[in-house]
Amino acid sequence: MSASSAPAQPRRFAAQGPLTGRIRVPGDKSISHRSIMLGALAVGETRVTGLLEGEDVLSTAAAMRAMGAVIERQANGDWLVAGVGVGGLLQPAGALDMGNSGTSTRLLLGLVASHAITACFTGDASLSKRPMGRVIAPLGQIGAAFTAYPGGRLPLIVHGADTPVPITYRLPVASAQVKSAVLLAGLNTPGVTTVIEPIPTRDHSERMLRGFGADLRVETDDDGARVIRLTGQPELRPQTITVPGDPSSAAFFVVAALIVPGSDLIVENVGLNPTRAALFDVLRLMGGHIDALNLREVGGEPVADLHVRASTLHGITVDPAVVPAMVDEFPVLFVAAALARGRTVTSGLDELRVKESDRIAAMRAALELAGATVTETDDGLIIDGTGGTLLPGTGADTIATHLDHRIAMAMAVAGLASERGVTVDDTRPIATSFPMFERLLAETGAA
Ligand code: S3P
Repeated sequence: MSASSAPAQPRRFAAQGPLTGRIRVPGDKSISHRSIMLGALAVGETRVTGLLEGEDVLSTAAAMRAMGAVIERQANGDWLVAGVGVGGLLQPAGALDMGNSGTSTRLLLGLVASHAITACFTGDASLSKRPMGRVIAPLGQIGAAFTAYPGGRLPLIVHGADTPVPITYRLPVASAQVKSAVLLAGLNTPGVTTVIEPIPTRDHSERMLRGFGADLRVETDDDGARVIRLTGQPELRPQTITVPGDPSSAAFFVVAALIVPGSDLIVENVGLNPTRAALFDVLRLMGGHIDALNLREVGGEPVADLHVRASTLHGITVDPAVVPAMVDEFPVLFVAAALARGRTVTSGLDELRVKESDRIAAMRAALELAGATVTETDDGLIIDGTGGTLLPGTGADTIATHLDHRIAMAMAVAGLASERGVTVDDTRPIATSFPMFERLLAETGAA
């Protein structure tokens, strides 16, 4: 059931004891979306093992089904995707409900933009506030036409181009979603579509497009920008994909184990793609004991088991250059900072204001309510930590999570290191990315 149709589920998270044992985090959300989309454009049957069965990915699967792909879950948990071939997407019969998922929306807008079909995109209250102008601009240059709510928001209708033209697009914001939208539009566009990326962002689209047989080349120009060139209208070959575990989900357990005294936890199967894994380096710089064991490759991505032990953390100034490689991990980093000794300074986080919620404002308010010392700046938070002393907690008050799964999970982690516990107003959105979160917390003994 999607978050918007069921009643809110408040819940209190309180200190219970150390996190111990071994847990395995579910599949990576970004890679799961892309495996369904590219599988749906290949000719033949793609098998996906370890797909994240969260609401966001299921929104992508439902949309690709509505446009002609056959997508089924097997009894063993694998997913089979029978594709329609590049250029073969069909006109969907009804509106495509994207739920809470910005990635589904922006990437699918890219796919539809170069097909001669019309599609209407809708979403929940959080997604309907998020800016789509960032993909409308380049996709309009390709030849698609859009009718959006004021401010370039959902609900939105896209009329894909009859004769899409290849573009060269320099990303004005560091966004893997915008990059991917343009590349996916380039798939059904004749000629070479070029994306110039001055600041590198997660590269799962590039890796997977190549894996499916697309002609995609990456160079670095004289200014150090990545220049990605995709030759359009390839025949994509079906693949067997194993999705590595999601570092963004592992992040909550890694921080929880660092800040809850006595913890000693192994988080298995964590994707460590360098464009994603900066949180673990930042936590090590703060004094966190995190060892990567059993380093290996899964589905073309580096993966390890992370051994995490409770640690005395100290505040640092986080280099804004690492932001794209941990853009989704700041809510939980703020929690680690709130328990660290001294001051943590973050900046360059403007993009956090347009995620599922304004994560700078939401986390400032949430941590303050839990008794932390926080200052909000234009583009970040400054946090003066407790030095390891438990946070007071929220008492009778409730944290507003604004339909944002990562605010809910980050504040659940804060609750584990608090005197009176932390109550969040709604845990439903957690199912968008990490349906097993509460069960795994219980397994570790922490809640
Ligand atoms: C994602 C890219 C990031 C990230 C999101 C997933 C992706 O968004 O925050 O959770 O899969 O491409 P932006 O492109 O807006 O930075």
